[in-house]
Amino acid sequence: MPTDSLFQPLARAGASATATVAITFNGQPLQVPAGANVAAALLAAGVRRFRNSPVSGDARAPYCMMGVCFECLLEIDGVPNRQGCLVQLEAGMDIRTQDGMRDLLAEANDPALALAEAVEAPHGL
Ligand code: FES
Repeated sequence: MPTDSLFQPLARAGASATATVAITFNGQPLQVPAGANVAAALLAAGVRRFRNSPVSGDARAPYCMMGVCFECLLEIDGVPNRQGCLVQLEAGMDIRTQDGMRDLLAEANDPALALAEAVEAPHGL
C-alpha cells in the first residue's frame, strides 16, 4: 500500500515559496516552510509520524487539519498534547513526537501544563 502523502501545500499569495524557518524535530535541526501551522510545516518537510497510538503503537499523523481529530498531537517547547494543526509555527521551536498516553498526573502536578492546554483548547474548554 503506498504511503506517500497526498499533502501538497498551495502557494500563498505574497509568500515566498522558499521561505523557511529553523526548528528542531526530535532533537534534529530541520528547515520547514514559514508561515504555516506546525502540522502543515512538518508535513511539507516530509514528517509522517507525529505520535504513536497508545493502543496499537501505530504511527499517527494529522488527518483533519482543523482541531477535531487529535491525530496531530506533539510536544512543542516542552508542553505535551499540543495540536500541531492549531499552533502557529515559530522559528526555534523544539518539537517532539508524542509517544504513549497523555500523562494526566504530570498535568495535575504542573499547573503550567494544564494552563497551556486550556489556553489553546477550543472555546477555552
Ligand atoms: S489534524 Fe486533526 S486535530 Fe490536528
